[in-house]
Amino acid sequence: MRFPVKFNRSFWRNIPKTLPSAADPRILCHGDVDEITFTRAVSTFKFGATFKSTQKARFPHSILELSHLEYGAKPIILDVGASDGSTSLDVMRAIPFEKYYVTDLNIDVFYEISGNATWFFDEKGSCILMVTDKWVVHPDIDDAIFPFNKISEALFKRAPKLMDSSTKIFLINPTLLALNDSRISIEKHSIFETWPHEKADLIIAANILNRGYFTTSEITQALRNLASTLNDNGRIAVIDNRPGEKASIFQFSDGKFKLEKRINGGTAIEALVLAPTTSASKTHQQV
Ligand SMILES: C[S@@+](CC[C@H](N)C(=O)[O-])C[C@H]1O[C@@H](n2cnc3c(N)ncnc32)[C@H](O)[C@@H]1O
Repeated sequence: MRFPVKFNRSFWRNIPKTLPSAADPRILCHGDVDEITFTRAVSTFKFGATFKSTQKARFPHSILELSHLEYGAKPIILDVGASDGSTSLDVMRAIPFEKYYVTDLNIDVFYEISGNATWFFDEKGSCILMVTDKWVVHPDIDDAIFPFNKISEALFKRAPKLMDSSTKIFLINPTLLALNDSRISIEKHSIFETWPHEKADLIIAANILNRGYFTTSEITQALRNLASTLNDNGRIAVIDNRPGEKASIFQFSDGKFKLEKRINGGTAIEALVLAPTTSASKTHQQV
């Protein structure tokens, strides 16, 4: 059951964890935000079905396992659905790399202020969030609890339009940007699109390939696409933090994925990754 109307934690500071609440993303409108505050604020956004939720040191066991693997040469790493890149920073600090691509489909957000409300928009102009001093409201009415579904619906009917003059916010963590490292590339990229750069030795897919966000057939499609993005013997780490950290690390060789490591029981989509249909497109390309 969804709660599209949440308490704004910048006002309700001692709100119990049992009540729906969210960090105030308006802090991003003012610039000059520290690493942790930035990540918390970005985590409030939801684009379509996926939250941008992330946090530093989110999957330490997975990173430790990945840092113990043999790579031959320093790997080219592709991080998909990386949100603001704070978990990418964790990976970068543990694994020496040749090149690191920090990618996400949603790397920009726009905003307009109207009266006491700040309205946030995706790049297509859809209004994805309304924030006041006390409330954070998503337009998430399907499966939402009454009367919050009705409140949200009524509020978003009054949303302003995205303007050419609306301000854009780049949703990438300032600590990552400050590295100013030519080996790091930040790109807007969808897991369903063809990867336009060199193939990767390691793909990090953390908290993205799950059935809460995508259908089984979409996950299979994404996996086939990611398989074609890997070098031979390349790996994909599928990580899930709902609620504890679980991960499955696969190696792609001879046209199929093999399970190499399982952390805390592995992820729920292991069988999908290992299914013959997942690697079919790669096998086809190699013929
Ligand atoms: C829950 S966050 C995970 C962030 C980070 N990987 C972590 O584990 O903390 C999921 C991310 O997937 C992104 N996303 C959603 N659909 C996507 C797509 N089709 N391709 C790439 N990224 C996508 C969202 O914008 C969001 O930042």
